[in-house]
Amino acid sequence: MTGRETLAMDPDTVAQALTVDTVAQALTVDTVAQALTDHGYLPDEGLATAVFLALTLRRPLLLEGEAGVGKTELAKVLAAWTGGELIRLQCYEGIDAAQAVYDWDYARQLLHLRAAEATGETAGKSTDAIEADLYQERFLVKRAVLRAIEPRTGPPPVLLIDEVDRADDEFEAYLLEVLSDFQVTVPELGVFRTEEPPIVILTSNRTRDVHDALKRRCLYHWVEHPGFEREVAIVRLRVPEVSEALARQVAAAVEAMRDLSLYKPPGVAETIDWAAALGRLGVAQLDEQSVARTLGTVLKYREDHQRVEHHGIADLVKQAFDRGLLHG
Ligand SMILES: Nc1ncnc2c1ncn2[C@@H]1O[C@H](COP(=O)(O)OP(=O)(O)OP(=O)(O)O)[C@@H](O)[C@H]1O
Ligand SMILES: [Mg+2]
Repeated sequence: MTGRETLAMDPDTVAQALTVDTVAQALTVDTVAQALTDHGYLPDEGLATAVFLALTLRRPLLLEGEAGVGKTELAKVLAAWTGGELIRLQCYEGIDAAQAVYDWDYARQLLHLRAAEATGETAGKSTDAIEADLYQERFLVKRAVLRAIEPRTGPPPVLLIDEVDRADDEFEAYLLEVLSDFQVTVPELGVFRTEEPPIVILTSNRTRDVHDALKRRCLYHWVEHPGFEREVAIVRLRVPEVSEALARQVAAAVEAMRDLSLYKPPGVAETIDWAAALGRLGVAQLDEQSVARTLGTVLKYREDHQRVEHHGIADLVKQAFDRGLLHG
């Protein structure tokens, strides 16, 4: 099967390919790369390979990398491509099962109880029976993890567990359990499980190390800043109104900034923002003044501004021109 044939698949066909054992034949690294590209994401070969393996081996994929290198976006694009629902779980310090898996809708349970009392429905019922009445599935608030393992027709969802490094150890241990079995027990109702596991993407900015046990469940890929030509292509794709020459200069200037040992080196997101800002200001090519005016779109720390100014903005512009032309 050629890449084009796979790309021509409508979402239902892709979903079918992902839910039957012909997966390995239907997908190749190249077709995965092409499909992501067609959905606006330009992966390098390493990332395309990691995605291919995650899809065909049905393993969660843990993406680590600096801020703004395209970790979260990959999950969004995967959902757009496969037609699966994107279910996002944004992790934060203190997140627990009630926010990630399920909770009971106390307000509705209470209203139900009041209504039952008012109509005399509870009269003569045992406490157990009244309680059982309150723990029905319709009062269950299904959060991301439970929604991701609900039986469904159609393509498997994409479960994005974003910034897992922000969650606490206990929560990570809990995730480990879910990712091993794709099943959740709600004591009052029973076990929820799926035969068709979701596509799982975990991301981490590495503010702390994710535990080995969780890593063992996942395939791992470190997302690098894109190479120069890829970054130019991403800017061209995302900010089509800027000229190729300006896109090249911006990508080159950002590349040079990443070598300045900044506190927060710019990611692709900043490159895109910078190009868009320059475009909006009608700048046709980089010069010292336009860089100085727009530095806040690409560097978000005062110390980093000072470092770039100390390095010399004129130098940076010259470097960007040389680099941009060199590959022109
Ligand atoms: N390879 C790529 N192809 C197309 N767009 C990309 C690529 N990499 C990054 N981007 C763009 O860069 C921006 C930032 O990406 P994203 O938010 O996914 O980064 P992130 O790694 O999740 O960052 P953070 O760690 O800050 O959450 C998005 O607008 C995304 O579209
Ligand atoms: Mg992100």
